[in-house]
Amino acid sequence: MTTFVKNAWYVAAWSREVGRGFLSRTLLGEQVLLYRRLDGKPVALVDRCPHKLAPLSLGELKGDTVQCGYHGMMFDCAGACVRVPGQTNIPPTARVTSFPLVERYGAVWIWMGDPELADAGATITEVPHYGDPDWGLVDGNYLHFKSNYLNITDNLVDPAHTTYVHKNTIGNSAGEDVGVKVEQGDSHVLAYRWIKEAAPVPLVEKMANFKGLTDRWQYYYLHLPSTSYVDFGCIDTGVEPTEANKDEGFRSFSFNFLTPETEATTHYFWLHLRNYHAHDAEVSTDVVRLMTLTFEEDATLLEHVQREQERTGVREYTRLGIDNAPARIRRMVDRLIAREQAPAGAEAEEVAGS
Ligand code: FES
Ligand SMILES: [Fe+2]
Repeated sequence: MTTFVKNAWYVAAWSREVGRGFLSRTLLGEQVLLYRRLDGKPVALVDRCPHKLAPLSLGELKGDTVQCGYHGMMFDCAGACVRVPGQTNIPPTARVTSFPLVERYGAVWIWMGDPELADAGATITEVPHYGDPDWGLVDGNYLHFKSNYLNITDNLVDPAHTTYVHKNTIGNSAGEDVGVKVEQGDSHVLAYRWIKEAAPVPLVEKMANFKGLTDRWQYYYLHLPSTSYVDFGCIDTGVEPTEANKDEGFRSFSFNFLTPETEATTHYFWLHLRNYHAHDAEVSTDVVRLMTLTFEEDATLLEHVQREQERTGVREYTRLGIDNAPARIRRMVDRLIAREQAPAGAEAEEVAGS
């Protein structure tokens, strides 16, 4: 059974990756062809000719139309066949699926579920301060994880692992015994904690100018099915923790957009916003280096976890208190998948019978 939620927007590629050439990428287990029309709009089609299943990406772009490289059938941006060389009739089966796309936050987002339900306004998580000139942006970064995406969402709402997995990068023992609280909304889970009256961590000491102790926050959000962000920062001890005051303090937002590739692999797109040294290229380079190192530490560990899960057929034998947030996400995802896969009319019956 699949672990993919279909009715959701996923990052298919960074905008700069999609141009007048073909980009072929596996997304949610499907092979997808991406390119841009002459007017710049991006297009996504299943990368498979309905004739002999040749990948369309081996063909050619003729204007806005894709020509199969095997026998020359041509398909428009909506996937309709517009020419079959050597015959005048176009068989009704001669079409390929196309997918809705939107561009936002420097990325091309794809909807691979029921096209009737595609509504970007409702479901793409807002990225605060994106485009704000007072905030430094690092984007366009990508990692490939050899692990099911839910192992990664487990990890992204689990502050406890930083002490052990990231001892060479962002972890230290200071927060070891500070409890994590968990809150749940309709479509998100938040795991968070405040570390009060603490000395600034080394990164903050290097980049900011605090005179004394700080109150430091870590808020780990996971918006279903697989957009994660970490709101991290600190303010002077005693300052009221309003959003405005937090923006005045030392703050960053680290976004991770996970797109399942297969059941065992995941595309990991990330961007980072900060309110310190916004235009300092060296700081940006440092952010890329540190984040890449940190995410690679997770990738290595989760690749081994995936391998053992496949070997044993088991996901976990033991559950701990720190699994509260990950377990909530898995339950919510399971519910979404069950709803998507329910036979048509089942939901209406459920409502009528409730
Ligand atoms: S396989 Fe594409 S036209 Fe024959
Ligand atoms: Fe991590």
